[in-house]
Amino acid sequence: MLKISLIGAGNVATHLAMQFSKNQSILIKEVYSQKIENASSLTKKIAQGTPINTLDFEKSEADIIIVAIKDDAIKTIINQLKLKKDTIIVHTSGSQSLSILENKSNNIGVFYPLQTFSKEKSIDFTKVNICIESSNEFVEKNLLILSQALEANSYFVNSNQRQTLHIAAVFSCNFVNHLWTLSQLYLEKNNINFQLLAPLLNETLEKALSIAPKNAQTGPAQRNDFKIIENHIALLKENENMQNIYQLLTKSIIELKNKE
Ligand SMILES: NC(=O)c1ccc[n+]([C@@H]2O[C@H](COP(=O)([O-])OP(=O)(O)OC[C@H]3O[C@@H](n4cnc5c(N)ncnc54)[C@H](OP(=O)(O)O)[C@@H]3O)[C@@H](O)[C@H]2O)c1
Repeated sequence: MLKISLIGAGNVATHLAMQFSKNQSILIKEVYSQKIENASSLTKKIAQGTPINTLDFEKSEADIIIVAIKDDAIKTIINQLKLKKDTIIVHTSGSQSLSILENKSNNIGVFYPLQTFSKEKSIDFTKVNICIESSNEFVEKNLLILSQALEANSYFVNSNQRQTLHIAAVFSCNFVNHLWTLSQLYLEKNNINFQLLAPLLNETLEKALSIAPKNAQTGPAQRNDFKIIENHIALLKENENMQNIYQLLTKSIIELKNKE
């Protein structure tokens, strides 16, 4: 049985904990959160593990410690962490290098799930790609076991490749979701239901994956419909933010098309 402890009780830690708790070969020992009540609510949810708000893991029985906290806080938390020199320690960040864990343990790694996690939405782990990086074969073997225990797919990705993937993920997930949010607010202001776009959103994704996004581009900028573009920009005069984004993305589409 593999024993793990989680540092963090946010979106990623919650989903990992819930999925691990379904597997009898994994035991969650501790869940750390700076706010103990957040750790307690997660240990209650999974009916295992001790909630803690101290970073002293020297007496912990955990084989692997997974750090799943806000990227900007990882370095500070790692510095404060006390653990046995052979305990495996990994983080789940796309943007942080493996070396951020150096000097903490002889066994360090990265366990980055290339997926979007929100506590409110359940996730099918068979559709999650885990990007694994490790300091040695022992860590690699254990991280593969962890990934298999989640029923996820495993890929070996180094720190540079992971950073590149993370930027691509920000564009294809976070930015696209922000554009959907702006669309939703714009529609709702005009009393139109966002769900009317559902078939369009589904087809856009399906088409991008089947014929590649570059070949799937349509719309006024792709067609050089400049009168429509001018009209849209004028209609957005009361929404300066959407107007700016419209102009920036239109320019990008036209420039890319002209390079072909
Ligand atoms: N969400 C995703 O879709 C996703 C996907 C892949 C990878 N990741 C990575 O997974 C990690 C966690 O992301 P998340 O989305 O789960 O974050 P999150 O839901 O915002 O949770 C943040 C966690 O960080 C803790 N935290 C914040 N500031 C802290 C500090 N100064 N000291 C100690 N703990 C602090 C919070 O503790 P309290 O609640 O106690 O404040 C909370 O447990 C990040 O490295 C992120 O890049 C996220």
